[in-house]
Amino acid sequence: MFWDEVYKGKPPWDLDHPQPAFQALIQNGEIKPGRALDIGCGRGENAILLAMSGCEVTGIDLAENAISDAKVKAKERNVKVKFVVEDALQMDWLFEEGEFDIVIDSGLFHVMTDEERPVFAQQVHRVLRKGGKYFMLCFSDKEPGEYDLPRRLSKAEIESTFSPLFEIIYIKDAVFDSLLNPSNRKAYLLSGVRK
Ligand SMILES: C[S@@+](CC[C@H](N)C(=O)[O-])C[C@H]1O[C@@H](n2cnc3c(N)ncnc32)[C@H](O)[C@@H]1O
Repeated sequence: MFWDEVYKGKPPWDLDHPQPAFQALIQNGEIKPGRALDIGCGRGENAILLAMSGCEVTGIDLAENAISDAKVKAKERNVKVKFVVEDALQMDWLFEEGEFDIVIDSGLFHVMTDEERPVFAQQVHRVLRKGGKYFMLCFSDKEPGEYDLPRRLSKAEIESTFSPLFEIIYIKDAVFDSLLNPSNRKAYLLSGVRK
């Protein structure tokens, strides 16, 4: 599987620390302790950050090897996180409706295809309780370069995908930290509240 192959190495997003955008959300109180899902959690840095801030965290990812590495990392740091191999587009059997207060997404939405995006938005909506919060970090169309994937998103694309199901609190400029270009990739951070 593509993602397992990627995690045989060290992909550029695979930092040994959480994304600063999520650290800031905890520091400024936008993310508070609650039941949280890190969707497409990779090797688990952001999930572990949320658990250390008092959240009860589940992390899911398609890549089995990323999930097993995340489990080892959490154990080494003595942090409790439930890590599960699962497809974010098929969470119906795994989670109850409204099971989470918070969903975070660091770089998953921006790897979804156009066809997958509405399905993805519905899946996030289903697992969040009414009033629950979705925080999503993705590459922005302000990021220069020739590469096609992950696709750089416009504010309009983010808004049109999520606004039917979420009240958009903001879509603001942010940074996507990366091993290739540390602290310098232009991103958007979405804060949405489940309708
Ligand atoms: C750009 S990486 C970001 C990983 C992690 N959130 C981080 O910040 O390090 C995207 C992640 O989404 C996972 N992924 C891709 N499609 C997925 C899907 N349908 N369901 C769950 N995870 C998926 C990949 O395996 C990969 O770990």
